[in-house]
Amino acid sequence: MKALVTGISGFVGSHMAEFLLDQQVEVIGTIRNRSRMDHIEHIQSQIRLIECELRDPFSVETLLAAEKPDYIFHLAAQSFVPTSWNSPVDTIYNNVAGQLNIFEAVRRLELPAKIQIACSSEEYGHVEPHETPISEDNPLRPLSPYAVSKAAQDYLGYQYFKSYGIHVIRTRTFNHTGPRRGEQFVTSNFAKQIAEIEKGIRPPIVSVGNLQAKRDFTDVRDIVRAYWVGLEKGEAGECYNIASGTCVTIEEMLNLLLSMSTISIEVVPDPSRMRPSDVEILLGDASKFERQTGWKPTIPFEQTMSDLLGYWRERV
Ligand code: GDD
Repeated sequence: MKALVTGISGFVGSHMAEFLLDQQVEVIGTIRNRSRMDHIEHIQSQIRLIECELRDPFSVETLLAAEKPDYIFHLAAQSFVPTSWNSPVDTIYNNVAGQLNIFEAVRRLELPAKIQIACSSEEYGHVEPHETPISEDNPLRPLSPYAVSKAAQDYLGYQYFKSYGIHVIRTRTFNHTGPRRGEQFVTSNFAKQIAEIEKGIRPPIVSVGNLQAKRDFTDVRDIVRAYWVGLEKGEAGECYNIASGTCVTIEEMLNLLLSMSTISIEVVPDPSRMRPSDVEILLGDASKFERQTGWKPTIPFEQTMSDLLGYWRERV
C-alpha cells in the first residue's frame, strides 16, 4: 500500500504522514523548493519527498506515472480565508488547477487510485439559524474566494466521478486545530500570543478579530483518521461532513485558552483582523460519515487547546 500526500510539509499533511506511518503504509509526499520542512523533520527518514509543482500538469503527471500510488490524500492548498481576499485569482487558480492536474493525470494514466479531496465547511458560507447542524444537503452560499475555490474542488470531485468513474471522496471538513497549526489561524494565533505574553516578549494584551463567530472544532489527529477511513470505507463520489457536532464562539475558545494561563491578560479588538464578510456559524452534522465509516472524534476540545498552547510554550 502506497499513499501520496500532497502538502505533506503542512499542518494537516504532517499529521497525515504520521498516521499513515503508524498504519505501516509507504508514504510519499509532494513538496516545493520553498516548502518549510520543520513539521516533518522528525519523520523525514521514514517518508519519501518528491519535488512537484501541482500547478504544472507535466510535473504532476510525471510524478503519478512513476509512483502509481494506491491512495492520494490531496491536502495542498491556499487554506487561509483572509489571503483569498488579497489574492483571489491566485487562491482559485492554486486550489482548482492543482486538483485538476491530479484528476487529469489519474484519468489519462488510468490509475485505480482512491483520492480524498480536502473540501471545506466554508463552502456552506451563509447559514440560516434553522439550518444547523449543517448537513451535506444544505445549499452552498460561499462568502469568500477561498470558499468558492473549495466549492469548485468539491464539484469537480463529483464531476470526475460521474464522468470518468474516478474514486473520489469529498470530505467537507469543519474547523480543525492542534499542534503545528499555522500561526495565522485563530486558535494558534491566540495561543501563540498568550505564550509570548507568558515569556515577557509581548505586553499582556491579546489582539483579536470577530469573537462572535461560532466554529465546530475537531482535533487534527481525529481529522487525519477520518481521511483514512474515508478512503477505506467511503462511497466513491460522495461528500461527507467531518465535524464534532458541537460549536463554540471564538470568544469561548479564547476564554478557555486564557483560563490555562495564570497571567492577567487584556483582550483588545484589532480592526485589521475583521473580514469583509465572515461566516457567522459553522456547526456540522457528521452523521452521514459516522454511519458510513464508524468514525467519531475522540480527543476533547480542552485537550486539543492545551496541546496547542503547550506547543507554542515550547517554541516562543
Ligand atoms: N485568523 C483569525 N485571527 N481569525 C480570527 C481572529 C484572529 O485574530 N479573531 C477572530 N477570528 C475569527 C475569524 O473571523 C473566523 O470567524 C474564526 O475566528 C476562525 O478563523 P480562522 O482560524 O482563520 O479559520 P476559518 O474558520 O476562517 O477557516 C478555517 O476553517 C475552514 C473550515 O471551516 C481554515 O482552516 C480553512 O482552511 C478551513 O477550510
